[in-house]
Amino acid sequence: MAEIGREEAKKRIEELRKLIHYHNYLYYVLDAPEISDAEYDALVRELRRLEELYPEFITPDSPTQRVGGQPAEGFAEVRHPKPMLSLQDAFNDEEMWAWFRRISKLLPEGVKPEDLEFTVEPKIDGLTVVLTYENGVYVKGATRGDGFVGEDVTANLKTIKAVPLRIPVVPDGEPPKRIVVRGEAYMPISAFEEFNRRQAELGQRTFANPRNAAAGSIRQLDPSITAQRPLSIFTYAIVELEGGKPIRTQWEALEYLKSLGFPVNPENRLAKSFEEVLALSKELMKKRDALDYEVDGVVVKINDLAVQEALGVVGNAPRGAIAYKFPGREATTKLLDIIINVGRTGSLNPVAILEPVHVGGVIVKQAALHNEEDIHRKDIRIGDTVIVRRAGEVIPQVVGPVKELRTGQERIFYMPKNCPVCGEPVVKPENEVDYYCVNAACPAQLVRRIEYWASKGAMDIEGLGEKVAELLVKEGLVKDVADLYYLKPQQLLRLEGFAEKKVSNLLKAIEASKQRPFWRVLTGLGIRYVGEIVAQTLAKHYLSIDRLMAATEEELMQIEGIGPRIAKSVVDFFSRPRHREIIEKLRRAGVRLAEEEVVKVEEGPKPLAGLTFVITGTLSVPREEFAALIERYGGKVADAVTRKTNYLIVGEAPGATKYNRARELGIPMITEADVRRMIEEGVK
Ligand code: IVH
Repeated sequence: MAEIGREEAKKRIEELRKLIHYHNYLYYVLDAPEISDAEYDALVRELRRLEELYPEFITPDSPTQRVGGQPAEGFAEVRHPKPMLSLQDAFNDEEMWAWFRRISKLLPEGVKPEDLEFTVEPKIDGLTVVLTYENGVYVKGATRGDGFVGEDVTANLKTIKAVPLRIPVVPDGEPPKRIVVRGEAYMPISAFEEFNRRQAELGQRTFANPRNAAAGSIRQLDPSITAQRPLSIFTYAIVELEGGKPIRTQWEALEYLKSLGFPVNPENRLAKSFEEVLALSKELMKKRDALDYEVDGVVVKINDLAVQEALGVVGNAPRGAIAYKFPGREATTKLLDIIINVGRTGSLNPVAILEPVHVGGVIVKQAALHNEEDIHRKDIRIGDTVIVRRAGEVIPQVVGPVKELRTGQERIFYMPKNCPVCGEPVVKPENEVDYYCVNAACPAQLVRRIEYWASKGAMDIEGLGEKVAELLVKEGLVKDVADLYYLKPQQLLRLEGFAEKKVSNLLKAIEASKQRPFWRVLTGLGIRYVGEIVAQTLAKHYLSIDRLMAATEEELMQIEGIGPRIAKSVVDFFSRPRHREIIEKLRRAGVRLAEEEVVKVEEGPKPLAGLTFVITGTLSVPREEFAALIERYGGKVADAVTRKTNYLIVGEAPGATKYNRARELGIPMITEADVRRMIEEGVK
């Protein structure tokens, strides 16, 4: 290749640039790549080689020039062609209606409120950017700044692959002579989590949320740092247009931007009435958790740009648009203490005790902290002001500390060396992040096991909750779940707060639980990885506890929905003499240890029939169990994302391979909650 001639090189360079621009467009805008990453890289490499040979052909819009070389001395200023306005906020339907009534009175002659159309656009929580193109070439990129003057971040934005360097698609021949576009740069949530993880590993600064990460990445003096950050962009407004197609409505503007090859949010909607605006806003709010970018509300804009213009501006916000904000997912509060909760399996789980705070519409007093390693990695200390986050229905999480607010009084947290309940030394298995209390007689575990045995999903014993379980264990009346069936009224009557009525109710409820189906007994035993669904599968297959106890790992693994992890756990469980003893005690008590009839899991509706799912990340239940649930309702679960995949279920900390592949193939990403909804409401 070294001997390629000048003319030939020039031709090939142009060809390569066109190809690379085109594939960027397919990948970043249409989400429909036609070539593999390796093939793409090969094109870029070839171009770079040719440009090295003939540097005179390097142009500023060449895809090789995305990484700007020289760090600037601070940012130059850019005056925006028009003020970059902000938006007024509404927080509920009443405030939205109030806005509608207000603008209804101010409409120009001949425009009726009931004829108004609106766009409803996700409000991405990122950083506003303003991009200028002249003759189809990217020439300037700026931040919003104070609305009038922004910072010149041309080189930084150039490193974002979703920012076209050249308008790649020109529908009517010539590109607009000049177009200034407003958009939001953001860091996808999955990329943010991955990025933070890597930063922490390298001992470098992490960001509290994707918004800060995006803003911090763009406002870097050295664009080569921006280049390493996984950023993307959505555009949503044309600020200025010369020599392009005349645009009358916001919807046309969005369509035009799309046709010019700018990334435009696929969730944007056009509403034909104000009722529809509110309905679409609700719909988007429901979808919020399934999107891979932070959405903090919807932006509602009057579609007719002339009407918007006529309504004018109050302060720094146009009257013709409004932000309908979702409840915030994050709040800051004080971390008062970290306590240890001993789980059913003996795991020691740190729990954050917080100064009560409103997050996303509820008061949060406690939040999850994963494990000691994670607490240290995030440098969370007792006494810190922390960011608490509540997304969807999951347990609130402590995101990280606000280090700027430290007083010096904060304490570093260490896992106790001994179980806080029984005092026995704790153990940390190799390759695991959790600590365990392995004392089989630890009352905390026993309390949890009894609570679990009595819970709704298992034996459903009314009146036997945490408090009663604690009391029974404390008084030494119960040493395992089977002991419940040997309780005598006299023993209970001696307990504080137990009058005759309460005792007889509790004993009746315990007695009634003997008739629960066999799979509930299996669930209640609390075998690791055996939740309701797996228990049903096992009950259906083996029909009795004796046959199940005789099963080997190999046999178990033959069953659909039972993987090696579950199989091993089941065999381990029944191999312990103590567990066999409990089973015998249950048998003597008359608890049902076999199916009277086969559990009818095969029957019933199959709302997921014909759909193939792939799971990535951590779900609220073991993955095998969730897979079994999907299969029970007719769906299939595959290991890898292919064109045949219908949905990617994204859990916490999803893997990059599946995620990127799904993105490449345009496969919809959903949450665990969405699947449960599909099962309950059917697939729409
Ligand atoms: S319209 C005058 N549309 O939300 C019009 N803004 O205060 C003002 N944002 O930081 C912006 N997505 O960058 C508009 N689809 C969208 C948006 C959006 C995100 C941001 C914007 C600004 C804030 C509004």
